[in-house]
Amino acid sequence: MAQLGVNIDHVATIRQARRTYEPDPVLAAGLAEQAGADLITVHLREDRRHIQDRDLRLLRETVATRLTLELACDSEVVDIACQVKPHQATLVPERREEVTTEGGLDVVADPERVKRAVEQLRQCGIEVSLFIDPDQRQIEASRAIGVTMIELHTGSYALARGRAQQDELARLIEAGKLCCEAGMQLHAGHGLNYHNVGAVAAIDHMDELNIGHSIIARAVFVGISQAVADMKRLIVEATSFSTRVER
Ligand code: PXP
Repeated sequence: MAQLGVNIDHVATIRQARRTYEPDPVLAAGLAEQAGADLITVHLREDRRHIQDRDLRLLRETVATRLTLELACDSEVVDIACQVKPHQATLVPERREEVTTEGGLDVVADPERVKRAVEQLRQCGIEVSLFIDPDQRQIEASRAIGVTMIELHTGSYALARGRAQQDELARLIEAGKLCCEAGMQLHAGHGLNYHNVGAVAAIDHMDELNIGHSIIARAVFVGISQAVADMKRLIVEATSFSTRVER
């Protein structure tokens, strides 16, 4: 069954709107874990628009499950990751002007740059995943630089509707198969919500889903514990349903 990684960046986004001390993403992480999160995910962006260095340090001390750090292939943040040593690092593309991570990492365009970041993180004992589009060339390029984990970008699936969404799901399923055949662990995330998560959770060998916006959006109304528990239940149900169908 896919593990649930709760991305708490948006809690920090609200705090940074006032440059104050609340709401604290560290507290959110503890509550999310109590409600069933299997890991906590944060993105330390170059512009520090939400998560701050202080959050990362405290989370490393307090997260009881696993901490995943999303980061760009940039020497400043890679150095910070090596000092803080999260359990896992996910390399993502980053542009200052984007609202959120747009598109996957282009490993095909610059494999050497990605490889340098992967190797530095690995030398520090951090497992590395690459956030890529569900594209055969990107999967092959990722495999060629020796990574063992891939996070498929589900943004296009999440935005598509009707037939187009089924086509995007088929791309994810096919990409998932390629990752597994190449011996890589399969993760997915971006734009997943309470309506579209089931089909992605049910993909064969899906190991981990990273979800932020929809959980924190629901938390505004029902509280973070309920929001995390609701998402966790959908993942469990999707997985047990697909197992029943397979049998
Ligand atoms: N996975 C990665 C690599 C991301 O960059 C993000 C966004 O920070 C997510 C998952 C979560 O996306 P969302 O907030 O849309 O659930």
